[in-house]
Amino acid sequence: MTTLAATGRTAAGPQQRDATWWRQAVVYQIYPRSFADSNADGIGDLRGITGKVGYLRELGVDAVWLSPFYPSALADGGYDVDDYRAVDPRIGTLVEFDELRAALHGADIRLVVDIVPNHTSNRHAWFREALASPPGSRARERYIFRPGRGERGELPPSDWTSTFGGPAWEPVGDGEWYLHLFAPEQPDLNWADDEVRQDFLTTLRFWADRGVDGFRIDVAHALAKDLTEPLASQAELDADVCSGAHPLQDRDEVHDIYREWRRLFNEYDPPRTAVAEAWVPAHRRSRYASPEGLGQAFNFDLLEAGWNATAFSSIIDKNLELARESGASSTWVLSNHDVVRHATRYALPDGTDLNAWLLHDGAEPHPDEERGRRRARAATLLILALPGSAYLYQGEELGLPEVADLPTDALQDPTFLRSRGEQKGRDGCRVPLPWAVQGPTLGFGDRLAHLPVPADFVRFAVESQASDEDSTLSFYRRALAERRLLQTGESLEWLTPTSPAVVAFTRPGGWTSFTNFGSTPVPMPAGTVIVSSSPIDGHTVPAETTVWLQQDRPAPL
Ligand code: NOJ
Ligand code: CA
Repeated sequence: MTTLAATGRTAAGPQQRDATWWRQAVVYQIYPRSFADSNADGIGDLRGITGKVGYLRELGVDAVWLSPFYPSALADGGYDVDDYRAVDPRIGTLVEFDELRAALHGADIRLVVDIVPNHTSNRHAWFREALASPPGSRARERYIFRPGRGERGELPPSDWTSTFGGPAWEPVGDGEWYLHLFAPEQPDLNWADDEVRQDFLTTLRFWADRGVDGFRIDVAHALAKDLTEPLASQAELDADVCSGAHPLQDRDEVHDIYREWRRLFNEYDPPRTAVAEAWVPAHRRSRYASPEGLGQAFNFDLLEAGWNATAFSSIIDKNLELARESGASSTWVLSNHDVVRHATRYALPDGTDLNAWLLHDGAEPHPDEERGRRRARAATLLILALPGSAYLYQGEELGLPEVADLPTDALQDPTFLRSRGEQKGRDGCRVPLPWAVQGPTLGFGDRLAHLPVPADFVRFAVESQASDEDSTLSFYRRALAERRLLQTGESLEWLTPTSPAVVAFTRPGGWTSFTNFGSTPVPMPAGTVIVSSSPIDGHTVPAETTVWLQQDRPAPL
């Protein structure tokens, strides 16, 4: 019998061998529990995804990134991993994983999986062993345990707060506390420990041997920590100016870990890829994206920018420059499973406090849905014209809005409870996808969905959009198909804007991307329209619209 390791190394067909595939790939993020449910238990699963490979192929993506599908109590939507080398039985099996990988590769789509190395779940075998072992034991060295302050250790070792709210230390009842930068169910690992390092190499090999093409690295900036006493106060941490010496974030020695990972990735043909989720200032990003490190890093700048020509062009300029510096290619992101969907962000007045808006169930200010969709399509077409990789998030191709009025008893995101209701959390972008125009879950599954699918999602169902030429889905398909034909070199040349509301550039092969951020039409430059984000009428580019134009496209025979 052929071993999995052997099949993994040769799993890539000839078309899969290109070692540079990632540089300009369109990567589609799947949040497995909310994508498609094949067995009517309300939870999206691997077979559900396999059943939609035809859809993904028709959409025209180059790769799929799977958010965590590992065994987990879902204290943080699967980013609390019990076992890194297994599949959550509610989501599937390893055999089904292999089937999915084979189906994707058969459709010429690469597969990227999420690796969560900063913390395990509190149900991981190592953490259970640590809790069952006394202070000072070997089992506790894999995590970050410290004695509490006060006479009997009744006070936390420091005043640090966790990202999801509340203290970052949890007592275990014997005078010691453990560190969790996220939820208490996500104890931080000690990356100074050799067994931790070795074990993650084993995990990376496990998936690379199974034919996985790349990895998305969760919280890539926080693995290396300096916990020498005395511990800094939270105020001191907050005041750090990203020097590379912050005790918990973006420390220079984190790159030793990634250099070791890179050596492992390069043992494969083609080398496995990686992209860092590193929330660091732009000037520190290139270190993660270095070819000796992970090779690519997410640029989240557009998530924080409003609908604004100047903001877009300066973010584009800066990130192309950073990519040149690191030798990586740029990355572009408008939506993911952690932020309010971009069709909704652009529907709200600039500067809206999104959390406050969510807490009011999306009632105030009232989103201008039509405008949001129009701008979202224009922004998407703009990023798809840029050199580098575009990361799309499931459902954006349907123009899905954020679901702001999920009932509080349905919410799953730990930020809601940990912040005592002050943060609504991220469930509104994780609502299951509407596939059909009928049925209680609109084709996501049968009767149930783990988060309620709003009835008005019927307007966005794949079934109705697929046959409608003007739908957002048809627009994404056209844009991705054209991008495949057009995207060659990695350079970009700015065109002098005809108005401050315009962002325009040409790409190798003589095609132009032209975005009108303004609210009135502007003259269209010369050329044949290849694709546009809203209908074109005459020789003007309508308000809030992107067009791609070919200068010298030969006339059809
Ligand atoms: C980043 C992930 O994208 C997010 O969903 C998660 O909550 C945190 N990392 C913690 O793992
Ligand atoms: Ca299921």
